[in-house]
Amino acid sequence: MKSIAVFASGTGTNFEAIQKAIEDHQLEASIECVVSDHRDAKVVEKAQQKNIEVFAFDPKSYPSKKDYEKEIVTLLDSKKVDLVVLAGYMRLCGEVLLNAYEGKIINIHPSLLPAFKGKDAIGQAIDYGVKVMGVTIHYVDSGMDSGKIIAQRSFDVEEGLSREEIEASIHAIEHVLYPSVIQKLLEEMK
Ligand code: GAR
Repeated sequence: MKSIAVFASGTGTNFEAIQKAIEDHQLEASIECVVSDHRDAKVVEKAQQKNIEVFAFDPKSYPSKKDYEKEIVTLLDSKKVDLVVLAGYMRLCGEVLLNAYEGKIINIHPSLLPAFKGKDAIGQAIDYGVKVMGVTIHYVDSGMDSGKIIAQRSFDVEEGLSREEIEASIHAIEHVLYPSVIQKLLEEMK
């Protein structure tokens, strides 16, 4: 059984989808820990409810990114994590994490990269008035949403859709696509 770590900063619906895919035997993996840079994030509560170990930290309480990433790498090493899954982790990975887990960190982003990198990708796409939107899963490198693309899904934006409806479409795609891509990557590691 392969081990994964899920990193998230907020609500954690992608964490829930991954967890459910495991429970439903669609994804053969074990979530060894959840890492969050917000101690009061909903994802922290959700992980605790599932009895998954949580490392929730306040980045401001560390002298530098290197210091908290060293702690994270120690945790990941101790859990023998095969794949680091960023699911709404709103922080750039630094050299300590990247050097330790190069090629083993993936991210999901709510746009068709390379369009609309960074924060509020959905808002950026709506403001731009694009007619096709989507989701990208990619490897993580030191840039902002710039690593090699693994998978993408798109959908047509119908006239008059609200932001909430667009977000729901994005999430619906993410919750199916992310577990299946994780499964494929873990199978390729065997
Ligand atoms: C997801 O839509 C994910 O694509 C996005 O954050 C959301 C997290 O939702 N990630 C980024 O914007 C990364 N740049 P969740 O907490 O409900 O899974």
